Amino acid sequence: MDSTSSEEELLHSLPKQKGWGPDDLLLFHHVWIAPPYLKATISFQKHFQAKYNDIIVASSPKSGTTWLKALAFAIAKRNHFIPSQNDHPLLHSNPHSLVPFLEIDLYADDSNNVLPHLSTLPEPRLFGTHIPFPLLPNSIHNSNCKIIYICRNPFDAFISLWQFYNNVFLSQPLIPALALEEAFEKYCEGIFDYGPFWSHMLGYWKASKDTPNKVLFLKYEELKANTKFELKRMAKFLDCPFTIEEESDGVIDSIIELCSFGKMKELEVNKSGKSLLKVEVENKYFFRKGEIGDWANYFSPYMTEKMSKIIEENLAAIAKAE
Ligand code: A3P
Repeated sequence: MDSTSSEEELLHSLPKQKGWGPDDLLLFHHVWIAPPYLKATISFQKHFQAKYNDIIVASSPKSGTTWLKALAFAIAKRNHFIPSQNDHPLLHSNPHSLVPFLEIDLYADDSNNVLPHLSTLPEPRLFGTHIPFPLLPNSIHNSNCKIIYICRNPFDAFISLWQFYNNVFLSQPLIPALALEEAFEKYCEGIFDYGPFWSHMLGYWKASKDTPNKVLFLKYEELKANTKFELKRMAKFLDCPFTIEEESDGVIDSIIELCSFGKMKELEVNKSGKSLLKVEVENKYFFRKGEIGDWANYFSPYMTEKMSKIIEENLAAIAKAE
């Protein structure tokens, strides 16, 4: 049996649920993934060759991936691209083009079974992924490459995801909007792309405790509250700490400003540009409010209680961790 037909057989054998958008979701090793991204995930697992200095930006959807990609790129490439200069790539490219997703973009072109040519990309190479830690390719697990993970309060991540789906996938006339209540019940059961959120967070959190030089675990809320401190942690983790001169020359402040929500949202590329993440997505939908606590405008008491219980039961260890 060739690999294409064995993959088709696998896809047909997996548990299936109606997804949030046009695609169903399949349960693959305890993770819900849409069929096109599952094929790409398998290809990514089989073929990706990590380099020792690769940087992988990992997250569950709507946790601040776009922001973290921008920050990681600005920090890691600051010797090539001066953050304060007005020709910086982040001023004319969306972070998802500069730090492409492995399974949603690079390995997602299955039209001709063409694999992406990644070996000649300028180093350090930066990639994004929503794949949970245990499902990353062995090549990533076994190399010295670095993984930076960002998690976000699930209350806000859920509202962000629901808004994103309604904007991006369900705006066509024939696809009905997804009701908040329906999306919420699915989210609580873990049924959404790359869900459940609790095992996603726990996988990277445990890895960051076991191998702190390999995985850095960040929280969106802490990154917002203390951006400078977190940027220094990131640079140190990436083995390119900011020097005293850089700090006094305002390099960290320039990176914070360059990647700030207000700055990025107003760039032409992010107002009118599009990104090809298997489907075409208008960049503006990656920049909605960028606030903490917007969930309170949507949650009923029932939703608040239910989500709090799930978090308490599954994520107490992360919530308590400093
Ligand atoms: P909201 O929908 O709550 O506004 P992701 O990048 O993982 O898709 O997450 C998107 C969320 O991050 C959105 O949240 C978006 O507004 C927010 N975001 C995008 N860029 C940001 C930035 N530079 N700073 C802070 N938040 C940002």
